Amino acid sequence: MRRLRQKLAMPAGFVPTMGYLHEGHLSLVRRARAETSSVVVSIFVNPAQFGPGEDLNSYPRDTECDLALLRKEGVDIVFIPSTDEMYPGRFDSWVEVGKVAERLEGACRPGHFRGVATVCAKLFDIVQPARAYFGQKDAQQVVVIKKMVADLNMNLEIVALPTVRESDGLAMSSRNTRLNPEERKAASVLHRSLTLAQQLWSQGEKGAERIRREMRALIQKQPLASIDYVSVADAETLDELKKVKPPALVSLAVRIGKTRLIDNIVLE
Ligand code: PAJ
Repeated sequence: MRRLRQKLAMPAGFVPTMGYLHEGHLSLVRRARAETSSVVVSIFVNPAQFGPGEDLNSYPRDTECDLALLRKEGVDIVFIPSTDEMYPGRFDSWVEVGKVAERLEGACRPGHFRGVATVCAKLFDIVQPARAYFGQKDAQQVVVIKKMVADLNMNLEIVALPTVRESDGLAMSSRNTRLNPEERKAASVLHRSLTLAQQLWSQGEKGAERIRREMRALIQKQPLASIDYVSVADAETLDELKKVKPPALVSLAVRIGKTRLIDNIVLE
Protein backbone atom coordinates (compact mmCIF):
# COMPACT_ATOMS: atom_id res chain seq x y z
CA MET A 1 0.00 0.00 0.00
CA ARG A 2 2.82 2.40 0.91
CA ARG A 3 4.61 1.71 -2.36
CA LEU A 4 1.46 2.31 -4.44
CA ARG A 5 0.64 5.36 -2.39
CA GLN A 6 3.90 7.09 -3.41
CA LYS A 7 2.69 7.08 -7.03
CA LEU A 8 -0.65 8.78 -6.31
CA ALA A 9 -1.37 12.37 -7.30
CA MET A 10 -1.45 14.61 -4.21
CA PRO A 11 -3.43 15.56 -2.22
CA ALA A 12 -4.97 12.14 -1.56
CA GLY A 13 -8.46 11.61 -0.13
CA PHE A 14 -9.31 8.55 1.97
CA VAL A 15 -12.64 6.85 2.74
CA PRO A 16 -12.40 4.07 5.36
CA THR A 17 -15.28 1.56 5.20
CA MET A 18 -16.31 -1.92 6.29
CA GLY A 19 -17.69 -2.67 2.81
CA TYR A 20 -21.15 -3.74 1.62
CA LEU A 21 -21.23 -0.30 0.07
CA HIS A 22 -24.34 1.82 -0.48
CA GLU A 23 -25.11 5.39 -1.58
CA GLY A 24 -24.00 6.72 1.84
CA HIS A 25 -20.48 5.38 1.33
CA LEU A 26 -20.50 6.47 -2.32
CA SER A 27 -21.41 10.05 -1.35
CA LEU A 28 -18.13 10.17 0.62
CA VAL A 29 -16.19 8.72 -2.32
CA ARG A 30 -17.69 11.29 -4.71
CA ARG A 31 -16.84 14.19 -2.44
CA ALA A 32 -13.29 12.88 -2.05
CA ARG A 33 -13.06 12.52 -5.85
CA ALA A 34 -14.24 16.13 -6.28
CA GLU A 35 -11.93 17.64 -3.64
CA THR A 36 -8.70 15.67 -3.95
CA SER A 37 -6.41 14.46 -6.77
CA SER A 38 -6.58 10.77 -5.91
CA VAL A 39 -8.86 8.60 -3.80
CA VAL A 40 -8.13 5.57 -1.61
CA VAL A 41 -10.95 3.47 -0.12
CA SER A 42 -10.35 0.78 2.48
CA ILE A 43 -12.62 -2.20 3.07
CA PHE A 44 -11.93 -3.90 6.39
CA VAL A 45 -14.48 -5.41 8.77
CA ASN A 46 -12.56 -4.45 11.89
CA PRO A 47 -12.89 -7.17 14.57
CA ALA A 48 -11.55 -4.79 17.25
CA GLN A 49 -14.69 -2.62 17.16
CA PHE A 50 -17.16 -5.49 17.61
CA GLY A 51 -18.01 -6.69 21.12
CA PRO A 52 -18.54 -10.31 22.08
CA GLY A 53 -22.02 -11.34 20.96
CA GLU A 54 -22.13 -8.59 18.31
CA ASP A 55 -22.53 -9.26 14.59
CA LEU A 56 -18.86 -9.57 13.46
CA ASN A 57 -19.32 -12.99 11.85
CA SER A 58 -22.64 -12.17 10.23
CA TYR A 59 -21.63 -8.65 9.11
CA PRO A 60 -22.70 -8.48 5.41
CA ARG A 61 -19.89 -8.74 2.85
CA ASP A 62 -19.74 -8.56 -0.97
CA THR A 63 -16.27 -7.59 -2.15
CA GLU A 64 -16.94 -8.20 -5.86
CA CYS A 65 -19.92 -5.86 -5.86
CA ASP A 66 -18.00 -3.24 -3.80
CA LEU A 67 -15.09 -3.30 -6.26
CA ALA A 68 -17.44 -2.87 -9.23
CA LEU A 69 -19.07 0.17 -7.57
CA LEU A 70 -15.71 1.72 -6.70
CA ARG A 71 -14.35 1.12 -10.18
CA LYS A 72 -17.31 3.10 -11.56
CA GLU A 73 -16.51 5.98 -9.19
CA GLY A 74 -12.93 6.11 -10.48
CA VAL A 75 -11.27 5.24 -7.18
CA ASP A 76 -7.49 4.89 -7.51
CA ILE A 77 -6.77 2.27 -4.84
CA VAL A 78 -8.99 -0.06 -2.84
CA PHE A 79 -7.08 -1.33 0.20
CA ILE A 80 -8.42 -4.64 1.56
CA PRO A 81 -6.06 -5.87 4.28
CA SER A 82 -6.51 -9.21 6.01
CA THR A 83 -7.20 -9.43 9.74
CA ASP A 84 -3.78 -11.03 10.28
CA GLU A 85 -2.05 -8.14 8.52
CA MET A 86 -3.85 -5.54 10.62
CA TYR A 87 -3.72 -7.49 13.90
CA PRO A 88 -0.85 -9.99 13.88
CA GLY A 89 -0.72 -12.43 16.81
CA ARG A 90 1.22 -10.19 19.21
CA PHE A 91 -0.63 -6.95 18.40
CA ASP A 92 -1.04 -5.04 21.68
CA SER A 93 -1.18 -1.24 21.20
CA TRP A 94 -4.45 0.69 21.37
CA VAL A 95 -5.72 4.22 20.93
CA GLU A 96 -8.12 5.14 23.71
CA VAL A 97 -10.07 8.39 23.33
CA GLY A 98 -11.46 9.71 26.64
CA LYS A 99 -14.82 11.17 27.69
CA VAL A 100 -16.43 11.68 24.26
CA ALA A 101 -15.96 7.95 23.56
CA GLU A 102 -17.48 6.80 26.86
CA ARG A 103 -21.10 7.86 26.41
CA LEU A 104 -23.92 6.92 23.97
CA GLU A 105 -22.51 4.24 21.63
CA GLY A 106 -19.48 3.90 23.90
CA ALA A 107 -21.68 3.10 26.90
CA CYS A 108 -23.78 0.55 24.98
CA ARG A 109 -20.79 -0.99 23.18
CA PRO A 110 -17.78 -1.03 25.56
CA GLY A 111 -14.47 -1.03 23.65
CA HIS A 112 -16.17 -0.08 20.37
CA PHE A 113 -14.43 3.29 19.97
CA ARG A 114 -11.08 1.90 21.12
CA GLY A 115 -11.38 -0.44 18.11
CA VAL A 116 -12.51 2.35 15.77
CA ALA A 117 -9.81 4.80 16.89
CA THR A 118 -7.07 2.16 16.71
CA VAL A 119 -7.96 0.98 13.21
CA CYS A 120 -8.36 4.55 11.93
CA ALA A 121 -4.98 5.54 13.40
CA LYS A 122 -3.39 2.55 11.65
CA LEU A 123 -5.17 3.23 8.34
CA PHE A 124 -4.29 6.96 8.43
CA ASP A 125 -0.65 6.07 8.96
CA ILE A 126 -0.65 3.49 6.15
CA VAL A 127 -2.53 5.63 3.61
CA GLN A 128 -1.27 9.08 4.72
CA PRO A 129 -4.15 11.04 3.22
CA ALA A 130 -4.51 14.82 3.28
CA ARG A 131 -8.20 14.36 4.05
CA ALA A 132 -10.36 11.52 5.36
CA TYR A 133 -14.13 11.48 4.78
CA PHE A 134 -16.68 10.29 7.35
CA GLY A 135 -20.49 10.21 7.46
CA GLN A 136 -22.51 12.25 9.95
CA LYS A 137 -24.67 9.10 10.23
CA ASP A 138 -22.10 7.97 12.83
CA ALA A 139 -21.97 11.34 14.58
CA GLN A 140 -20.12 10.18 17.68
CA GLN A 141 -17.54 8.42 15.51
CA VAL A 142 -16.82 11.79 13.85
CA VAL A 143 -16.41 13.46 17.26
CA VAL A 144 -14.09 10.67 18.48
CA ILE A 145 -11.94 10.67 15.32
CA LYS A 146 -11.64 14.48 15.29
CA LYS A 147 -10.58 14.39 18.95
CA MET A 148 -7.96 11.70 18.27
CA VAL A 149 -6.56 13.63 15.29
CA ALA A 150 -6.35 16.86 17.31
CA ASP A 151 -4.94 15.29 20.49
CA LEU A 152 -2.35 13.14 18.69
CA ASN A 153 -1.31 15.81 16.15
CA MET A 154 -2.22 13.62 13.19
CA ASN A 155 -1.47 15.34 9.92
CA LEU A 156 -4.81 15.19 8.11
CA GLU A 157 -8.17 16.91 7.93
CA ILE A 158 -11.39 15.09 8.89
CA VAL A 159 -14.38 15.94 6.69
CA ALA A 160 -17.91 15.00 7.85
CA LEU A 161 -20.72 14.71 5.27
CA PRO A 162 -24.53 14.56 5.63
CA THR A 163 -26.45 11.32 6.16
CA VAL A 164 -27.87 9.79 2.98
CA ARG A 165 -31.42 8.49 3.52
CA GLU A 166 -34.00 6.21 1.89
CA SER A 167 -37.24 7.81 0.64
CA ASP A 168 -39.00 7.25 4.01
CA GLY A 169 -36.10 8.88 5.85
CA LEU A 170 -34.36 5.70 7.07
CA ALA A 171 -30.60 6.34 7.15
CA MET A 172 -28.82 4.03 4.71
CA SER A 173 -26.84 1.34 6.49
CA SER A 174 -25.29 -1.99 5.57
CA ARG A 175 -27.31 -3.44 8.44
CA ASN A 176 -30.68 -2.42 6.88
CA THR A 177 -30.47 -5.52 4.66
CA ARG A 178 -31.10 -7.59 7.82
CA LEU A 179 -34.60 -6.14 8.26
CA ASN A 180 -37.54 -8.23 7.05
CA PRO A 181 -40.30 -6.28 5.22
CA GLU A 182 -42.29 -5.69 8.40
CA GLU A 183 -39.20 -4.54 10.33
CA ARG A 184 -38.13 -2.37 7.40
CA LYS A 185 -41.45 -0.46 7.69
CA ALA A 186 -41.12 -0.20 11.47
CA ALA A 187 -37.56 1.19 11.11
CA SER A 188 -38.89 4.51 9.79
CA VAL A 189 -39.75 5.33 13.43
CA LEU A 190 -36.13 6.42 14.04
CA HIS A 191 -36.31 9.21 11.50
CA ARG A 192 -39.88 10.11 12.48
CA SER A 193 -38.75 10.61 16.09
CA LEU A 194 -35.88 12.85 14.91
CA THR A 195 -38.30 14.87 12.78
CA LEU A 196 -40.48 15.29 15.88
CA ALA A 197 -37.47 16.59 17.83
CA GLN A 198 -36.72 19.06 15.03
CA GLN A 199 -40.36 20.23 15.01
CA LEU A 200 -40.47 20.73 18.77
CA TRP A 201 -37.21 22.70 18.64
CA SER A 202 -38.48 24.82 15.69
CA GLN A 203 -41.65 25.58 17.70
CA GLY A 204 -39.50 26.96 20.51
CA GLU A 205 -39.16 23.96 22.84
CA LYS A 206 -35.94 24.33 24.84
CA GLY A 207 -36.42 21.53 27.37
CA ALA A 208 -34.15 18.64 26.38
CA GLU A 209 -35.99 16.16 28.60
CA ARG A 210 -39.33 17.12 27.05
CA ILE A 211 -37.84 16.36 23.60
CA ARG A 212 -36.35 13.04 24.77
CA ARG A 213 -39.69 12.11 26.38
CA GLU A 214 -41.76 12.88 23.27
CA MET A 215 -39.32 10.91 21.11
CA ARG A 216 -39.41 7.90 23.45
CA ALA A 217 -43.23 7.99 23.52
CA LEU A 218 -43.39 7.95 19.71
CA ILE A 219 -40.92 5.05 19.44
CA GLN A 220 -42.70 3.05 22.15
CA LYS A 221 -45.84 3.06 20.00
CA GLN A 222 -43.97 0.85 17.53
CA PRO A 223 -44.18 -2.71 18.91
CA LEU A 224 -41.11 -4.01 17.01
CA ALA A 225 -38.88 -1.24 18.39
CA SER A 226 -36.94 -1.28 21.64
CA ILE A 227 -34.87 1.74 22.73
CA ASP A 228 -31.17 1.55 23.67
CA TYR A 229 -30.93 5.31 24.22
CA VAL A 230 -32.43 8.64 23.17
CA SER A 231 -30.08 11.57 23.71
CA VAL A 232 -30.07 15.34 23.38
CA ALA A 233 -26.47 16.36 23.96
CA ASP A 234 -23.95 19.13 23.32
CA ALA A 235 -22.70 18.41 19.77
CA GLU A 236 -19.05 18.80 20.77
CA THR A 237 -18.72 17.42 24.31
CA LEU A 238 -21.66 14.98 24.02
CA ASP A 239 -22.75 16.01 27.55
CA GLU A 240 -26.50 15.50 28.00
CA LEU A 241 -28.33 18.83 28.03
CA LYS A 242 -31.05 20.17 30.32
CA LYS A 243 -31.72 23.18 28.14
CA VAL A 244 -31.12 22.87 24.39
CA LYS A 245 -28.28 25.10 23.26
CA PRO A 246 -27.40 24.80 19.57
CA PRO A 247 -25.63 23.02 18.03
CA ALA A 248 -27.22 20.08 19.88
CA LEU A 249 -26.90 16.48 18.75
CA VAL A 250 -30.14 14.51 18.95
CA SER A 251 -29.17 10.86 18.61
CA LEU A 252 -30.69 7.48 19.25
CA ALA A 253 -30.08 3.75 19.08
CA VAL A 254 -33.08 1.48 18.64
CA ARG A 255 -33.38 -2.25 18.11
CA ILE A 256 -35.87 -3.28 15.44
CA GLY A 257 -36.26 -6.99 16.06
CA LYS A 258 -32.64 -8.18 16.35
CA THR A 259 -31.14 -5.36 14.29
CA ARG A 260 -29.63 -2.40 16.12
CA LEU A 261 -29.96 0.90 14.23
CA ILE A 262 -28.62 4.38 15.00
CA ASP A 263 -29.43 7.81 13.64
CA ASN A 264 -29.12 11.49 14.57
CA ILE A 265 -29.75 15.10 13.60
CA VAL A 266 -28.19 18.36 14.74
CA LEU A 267 -30.42 21.15 16.07
CA GLU A 268 -28.92 24.37 14.75
P1 PAJ B 1 -18.99 1.78 7.78
O1 PAJ B 1 -20.15 1.51 8.66
O2 PAJ B 1 -18.77 0.90 6.59
O3 PAJ B 1 -19.09 3.27 7.29
C1 PAJ B 1 -18.07 3.85 6.52
C2 PAJ B 1 -18.34 5.36 6.42
O4 PAJ B 1 -19.57 5.56 5.73
C3 PAJ B 1 -18.51 5.99 7.82
O5 PAJ B 1 -17.84 7.25 7.84
C4 PAJ B 1 -20.01 6.15 7.93
O6 PAJ B 1 -20.40 7.20 8.79
C5 PAJ B 1 -20.39 6.43 6.48
N1 PAJ B 1 -21.82 6.17 6.26
C6 PAJ B 1 -22.51 5.04 6.57
N2 PAJ B 1 -23.82 5.19 6.28
C7 PAJ B 1 -23.97 6.45 5.79
C8 PAJ B 1 -25.09 7.21 5.31
N3 PAJ B 1 -26.31 6.72 5.28
N4 PAJ B 1 -24.86 8.48 4.88
C9 PAJ B 1 -23.60 9.01 4.92
N5 PAJ B 1 -22.51 8.33 5.35
C10 PAJ B 1 -22.68 7.07 5.78
O7 PAJ B 1 -18.00 3.46 10.05
C11 PAJ B 1 -17.36 2.47 9.75
O8 PAJ B 1 -17.63 1.70 8.62
C12 PAJ B 1 -16.18 1.98 10.58
O9 PAJ B 1 -16.39 2.31 11.92
C13 PAJ B 1 -14.81 2.54 10.09
C14 PAJ B 1 -14.75 4.06 10.18
C15 PAJ B 1 -14.52 2.08 8.64
C16 PAJ B 1 -13.67 1.97 11.00
O10 PAJ B 1 -13.66 0.59 10.98
